[in-house]
Amino acid sequence: MAQNIYDNPDFFAGYSQLPRQVHGLSGAPEWPAIQALLPDLRGRRVVDLGCGFGWFARYAVEHGAESVLGLDISEKMIARARADTPGDRIAYEIADLDQLELPADRFDLAYSALAFHYVSDFARLVQTIHRSLRPGGHLVFTIEHPIFMAAAHPHWIADENGSKTWPVNNYAREGERRTDWFAKGVLKYHRRLSTTLNTLIDAGFALNRLEEFAPMPEQIATFPVLEEELERPMMALIAAERR
Ligand SMILES: C[S@@+](CC[C@H](N)C(=O)[O-])C[C@H]1O[C@@H](n2cnc3c(N)ncnc32)[C@H](O)[C@@H]1O
Repeated sequence: MAQNIYDNPDFFAGYSQLPRQVHGLSGAPEWPAIQALLPDLRGRRVVDLGCGFGWFARYAVEHGAESVLGLDISEKMIARARADTPGDRIAYEIADLDQLELPADRFDLAYSALAFHYVSDFARLVQTIHRSLRPGGHLVFTIEHPIFMAAAHPHWIADENGSKTWPVNNYAREGERRTDWFAKGVLKYHRRLSTTLNTLIDAGFALNRLEEFAPMPEQIATFPVLEEELERPMMALIAAERR
């Protein structure tokens, strides 16, 4: 059973205040880069894995998706998603991605934002997604970048001039990483970028694109705090297709 930290009241309260949860997709600086990876959503049957408050599910139906199934392990996240979602084209269910079962050949697009790094058995998940897509179906997802994840205790090291270094250690040692973020001991799983990509290839996906998100100069001008994202990649954005 996965950790389900999003149902921790302190974690949920803190996470709910992030700009990307208050403002939705437009509050996420990587959103324009994700949009560039998405197929045309019109008429698509979509599954959103780790859907959170349902921001993407609503975007998908607003842009023509036929239906969206939003899945998340957190009852609090799903309750909020249901409360914020009108209409009947989106269904939300509680599900643990580490034990996920999906019907075969059902979806045109599997989407996930910042959830797969909580999954311990990534190969099983990817095989399940592959089976659930129709041939030619798309998988678009984002994860914490493994260079971000590989810092055992993520923090900057500053030198006497104030320039900052991101301490990456044990990059090739894959597996559990614990971090303190809104709660102590948040459990994530580190995988090398090569492991993530090769797992997709081994499951029968063709890779369409890998982006290592970095903010645009105009985004940094508006939100100077984003400048530190130029020092190391925080997210990987991946688009693949079922062969
Ligand atoms: C960083 S949030 C992202 C939420 C949403 N995708 C978004 O971008 O707003 C990660 C989500 O993954 C969910 N999650 C974490 N581990 C999970 C698991 N094992 N199975 C299903 N969902 C999980 C969390 O409950 C949370 O809603």
